[in-house]
Amino acid sequence: METNLKLVDVVVEMLDARIPRASSNPMLIKMIGNKPKVIALNKTDMADKEKTALWLENLKAKSFAVVQVDCAKGKGVKQLIGAIQKAAEPVTAKWLKRGVHNRPIRVMIVGVPNVGKSTLINRLVGRRTAMTQDKPGVTRGPQWITIAKGLELLDTPGVLWPKFEDQEVGLFLALTGAIREEIFDKSIVTELLIKKLQKEYPQVLSSKYGADIEQEDAINTVYEKIAKARGCLKAGGIADVDKVVNMVLRDFKSGKLGAFTLDKPPDKK
Ligand code: G4P
Repeated sequence: METNLKLVDVVVEMLDARIPRASSNPMLIKMIGNKPKVIALNKTDMADKEKTALWLENLKAKSFAVVQVDCAKGKGVKQLIGAIQKAAEPVTAKWLKRGVHNRPIRVMIVGVPNVGKSTLINRLVGRRTAMTQDKPGVTRGPQWITIAKGLELLDTPGVLWPKFEDQEVGLFLALTGAIREEIFDKSIVTELLIKKLQKEYPQVLSSKYGADIEQEDAINTVYEKIAKARGCLKAGGIADVDKVVNMVLRDFKSGKLGAFTLDKPPDKK
């Protein structure tokens, strides 16, 4: 990826709107140096709208060009192209000063696994993908696809391997599919999710599972209440915690539980 980064003029870093902090890679800034960067906040359909607005405000205040997108539905993709073109203006101005005309701006999309990079590339490229298919016997170098006038996209995204020292960041990445869930014990991942939901979205678990869950309930009480309400019981009426854990995780990942943002937007300064 670092080799490909050298070939581009603008970098699009895709973040998961549910975890804008955990899905950003602090190493990227070192890799791209002064190159303009545009942030694409994806999966906004699965995130809390109010918190997405706060994250957008916060990132803009830090002088980042940022656009919210929902690549599954194709929302915000046109605005993203506009933001890339705007971010590239200083680069083209420099070229013009040196007498370089008609050189296309080259752009690449980077982000952690499963954030939606390929989905975005397909949206940007559309039917033009067919032209880039491999020909037998031809070694395939980077492929550039024109996505707008004077704008070329690298057809392969850059995968940023998640790096984290903070365990919460790792657990958020596991919850959203950026790292394999098996890296952590499922019950630890679920416990964090439940605690976050109890704190930030206190009504959700009660209304979703028809259980009377209080904000201050301990994790075992929450499991027991959900197990009872949903009939996840073992012989003797004991709560089947594994079953509850799997159900909660599945419901969160599929979006059935609702749209949430796990990373708290930073306070306004
Ligand atoms: P990657 O290249 O960054 O690894 O991610 P990719 O595009 O493969 O997307 C990972 C998953 O996220 C895919 O679902 C994709 O459909 C989904 N996705 C991408 N953008 C959005 C979005 O804005 N909203 C929602 N809700 N989902 C999005 P999948 O289940 O792995 O595959 P599939 O069911 O789409 O085939």
